[in-house]
Amino acid sequence: MNAPGDTSRAGADRDGHVFELELLGGNTERRFRKMRPEVEAMPWGTLDLSAASPEDLAAARMAWTGAAYQEHRTAAACAITLRALIEARAPIDLIAVASRFPLDEMVHVELCARMAMECGGGTEIVFNPSQMVLDPDPNERALMRAAECAVRFFCVGEAISIPLLRATWHVAQHPLPKAVLGRIVKDEAAHGVFGFSFLDWALPELSERDRVVLGHAADKAIRFVYQQWDYTARHRRNPSHDGDVLGWMRTDDYLELARRSMQAHVIDPLEARGIPISAQLPETVPAAAR
Ligand SMILES: [Fe+2]
Ligand SMILES: [Fe+2]
Repeated sequence: MNAPGDTSRAGADRDGHVFELELLGGNTERRFRKMRPEVEAMPWGTLDLSAASPEDLAAARMAWTGAAYQEHRTAAACAITLRALIEARAPIDLIAVASRFPLDEMVHVELCARMAMECGGGTEIVFNPSQMVLDPDPNERALMRAAECAVRFFCVGEAISIPLLRATWHVAQHPLPKAVLGRIVKDEAAHGVFGFSFLDWALPELSERDRVVLGHAADKAIRFVYQQWDYTARHRRNPSHDGDVLGWMRTDDYLELARRSMQAHVIDPLEARGIPISAQLPETVPAAAR
């Protein structure tokens, strides 16, 4: 996402695409709506923005557009994981459960994009489709490719997002963001446990060396999250007035919960499974926010 006047994307790779979305409509949309009827049942069009300042609205539009893009990336991560699970001949029921995840994420994409529209419209994001998510190491065997996806995308990415989403849902007051976040929280609960269910099945087949390799993969994903915290800490947001249309958490609360969640829901459970983590919690970034 680029701030107004930010020219950095002028130098972005030539494969840059603007993140825009559409629905095909007709029978396809009807089938989609039938699969997830709760989306249309949400109280769309009920946000009263009259008390919101232009800054609130701009922040809300950027945040929901960014969230839509992150959900879109996660859909790609779920699809890559699914392929790896099938190639690794993971248990049928485990694969079947994971096959719902890309659909969940596309629902989340639509929900977040519609929230941005409710707040006045999406903001511009330029992205490279070839670099949305990192594929697993093609030189590894099928089981390790699946394990790498499970660790990076689920044991780290999804597991850290769940307590944060749940807390955000708790502070949301208006029925519309409450319904949107509630739906996402409900779906993500299954995503969060999936990575560890996979690992518990795969562990007997993973050597010491495999676990070290997976630890490096987890480190990479964890450090990526730390970078996001760094950005969040530098773009603080502490809404406290009635006109706040985001209804999202105060930055300090968010970062504090993020720290605790990373330890309890990511690092501890990975290490309990013999996967060594080097990317321990940084002292500086979150400490500066407390
Ligand atoms: Fe999601
Ligand atoms: Fe998810």
